[in-house]
Amino acid sequence: MSEKDKRYSVVIAGGGSTFTPGFVLSLIANEDRFPLRKLKFYDNDAERQKKIGDACAIIMKERAPQIEFSYTTDPKEAFTDVDFVMGSIRVGKYHMRELDEKIPLRYGVNGQETTGPGGMAYGMRSIPAIIEIIDWMEKYSPNAWMINYSNTIAIVAEACRRLRPNAKVINICDMPVAIMTRMAHICGLNDYHDLDVNYYGLNHFGWWKEVRDKKTGKDLMPLLKKHVSENGYWIGGEYDKETEASWAETYKKAKDCYALEPETLPNTYMQYYYYPQYEVQNADPNHTRTDEIREYRQKIVFEECARIVKAGTAKGNIWEASAEHSNYIVDICHAIAYNTHEKFFANIPNNGAIANMDPDSVVEVPCWFGADGVQPMATGMAGRFQKGLMEEQQACEKLVVDAYEQHSYNKMWQAFALNKTVPDALVAKKILDDMIPENKPYWPELK
Ligand code: NAD
Ligand code: G6P
Ligand code: MN
Repeated sequence: MSEKDKRYSVVIAGGGSTFTPGFVLSLIANEDRFPLRKLKFYDNDAERQKKIGDACAIIMKERAPQIEFSYTTDPKEAFTDVDFVMGSIRVGKYHMRELDEKIPLRYGVNGQETTGPGGMAYGMRSIPAIIEIIDWMEKYSPNAWMINYSNTIAIVAEACRRLRPNAKVINICDMPVAIMTRMAHICGLNDYHDLDVNYYGLNHFGWWKEVRDKKTGKDLMPLLKKHVSENGYWIGGEYDKETEASWAETYKKAKDCYALEPETLPNTYMQYYYYPQYEVQNADPNHTRTDEIREYRQKIVFEECARIVKAGTAKGNIWEASAEHSNYIVDICHAIAYNTHEKFFANIPNNGAIANMDPDSVVEVPCWFGADGVQPMATGMAGRFQKGLMEEQQACEKLVVDAYEQHSYNKMWQAFALNKTVPDALVAKKILDDMIPENKPYWPELK
């Protein structure tokens, strides 16, 4: 069989994820350019995965009967004979995300999934689970690639750099492309594919220094800066009619982030570092993002799966139009499978990509994706402001991995104390001490 006729085998790790039906719909929609022979789900929670798996089996039977579909909790079955692993696990599930958000808020510190102490706690939980999946992939399908979304990506990527430096794993984030699709729309273009950019930073911590129309080369920064200075990345109207309230606030808040550093355009996550006091004042310590997801995304996904299973058909399902998050990961698998050298984003060891950052720092930059993985783009020099911020944040991320490797209480305490979202080492200690018993099933014992 020639490469041209090759059909691929994919496993979604985190089969019970709220994003899984979206992945399935995107894979089906892309069958003509990224054809599959097999699709599997893997999860360590059989019950949660079954609910999504049974609904997806019906979708697959109706829409893509040529693809062999199954789901399992057995690693050998899951990772044997696969070309791509799509990583979408949440270690500790929403129960632990809730604690990541609510424990810091007890002490007036921002509570957020991937930033501040919550993000560091989550990263620490993810490290051993991701390493385990990499090891299974290498054992059962040594030629496969893992494209990983599982957070906290900056910490997971640093752990991969240290612990599995040669593994075929690429840690990605959808935030830059989600923002770029907004940028494209603001400029009268369609989506992220229509833009050519220079962007640099860390995961959930970055800036665009150039945005151009990919076709014409036209500089779009002046138009975008005007829009962001007035509205942030908010578009409103029909475009934003399904946007949840907290995401609306995030896109609007980019206006205040831009005001602080108007040479570049900020990633939305800078709000947590520039304005932590505002974030805390704006938060309800008894009702955080996790509660919203339980009431909205998770509820909708699981209710829809139950409806499909009961009806025995997926006709008219809510995922007919597939989402950015899932299209992006399929784009990346396609670029690797067909060696297209398209430019997307990855979290990788710096090695000169940002000229004035350490070679061994993990950074998020545009990269060309091909059969041999990713080639980072040289993005130039980071500004003084950005460099200062990145070095502090990155030290926190490295300290978390130090704490993991050395089982060190002090390293984790230092990581929390150094973080820009935490005012003081005593506050850092109180948060950490509340988190330790809750994370006992997932963290190494810190001494
Ligand atoms: P979810 O809780 O709905 O699903 C995660 C699934 O992972 C659950 O079914 C759970 O049982 C499973 N799981 C947990 N630990 C596991 C392990 N060790 N092995 C196998 N399965 C395991 O979560 P979600 O909200 O759908 O998010 C999934 C992941 O995607 C999270 O890590 C989230 O942070 C991440 N995410 C990342 C990006 C990005 O930009 N990188 C974007 C969106 C979501
Ligand atoms: C973006 C980020 C992800 C993060 C997600 C949280 O997509 O890139 O890394 O996990 O937002 O969204 P949620 O809707 O779960 O709060
Ligand atoms: Mn992300």
